[in-house]
Amino acid sequence: MSYYQSELARIHHEAFSDYARSAAPGVLASLGEPCGVVELGCGGGALTRPLLDAGHRVIATDASSAMLDLARQAVPEADIRFLRLPDDPIPSTDAVVAVGTVFNYLDSEVYIDRALLGAARAGRILITDLLDLSYGDTRREPVKYFHEGDGWRLWTVNSLETPDRVVRQMTIETADGITNEVHINVLVDVAEVADKLRSEGLAVSTSSGFGYETLPPGFVVLEARRPG
Ligand SMILES: C[S@@+](CC[C@H](N)C(=O)[O-])C[C@H]1O[C@@H](n2cnc3c(N)ncnc32)[C@H](O)[C@@H]1O
Repeated sequence: MSYYQSELARIHHEAFSDYARSAAPGVLASLGEPCGVVELGCGGGALTRPLLDAGHRVIATDASSAMLDLARQAVPEADIRFLRLPDDPIPSTDAVVAVGTVFNYLDSEVYIDRALLGAARAGRILITDLLDLSYGDTRREPVKYFHEGDGWRLWTVNSLETPDRVVRQMTIETADGITNEVHINVLVDVAEVADKLRSEGLAVSTSSGFGYETLPPGFVVLEARRPG
């Protein structure tokens, strides 16, 4: 499945990248001293910028070419590469970071497990946020949203299709006409995911935010560290 074509990529970067910017202080605190970082699902580079400014050596990756074009404009000095989870190999590094529920975009729990394990093996620390099964507890009925900005309007309907699948139907209007995108997020039992990573020898913690911010209900931050 292909997510974030050019219109939606631009809208996400313009209007929805505050989430990544708010995550930055917590992510930077967890990373500590400057190190090598592979960022998965970097989008337009909203987190890549503070990572680079803090002295980390960043490889920023995404599966959306439109997002990568935006990231190249926003952080031209970064090493920006196409990488589609779960099958593309993750370069070996010190730390892997994925912000914006990137793993939940994969098609199944099996793919999510495989990608998380690959990410945890690629470095000594993995920091990410996941949509937990509890996300559905407060969102049983479809929710409609409307957003608009410079030259665009976006209508979204978020529906819990099954207890572990959220379908987001988006209609995007720009001067060029109307386009549609449908995103599917697979919800996971984060406690189970954490146990699977622990069985790989990792020290795993979960929390409701990257730093001092509190994420919406159902969003869980997971940090997995390889001891030693
Ligand atoms: C909600 S956006 C977050 C973007 C950015 N990290 C931020 O917070 O602004 C999710 C990102 O995951 C990327 N993505 C979705 N499926 C992916 C996959 N299979 N492999 C790699 N990236 C993927 C999307 O292209 C998108 O950029």
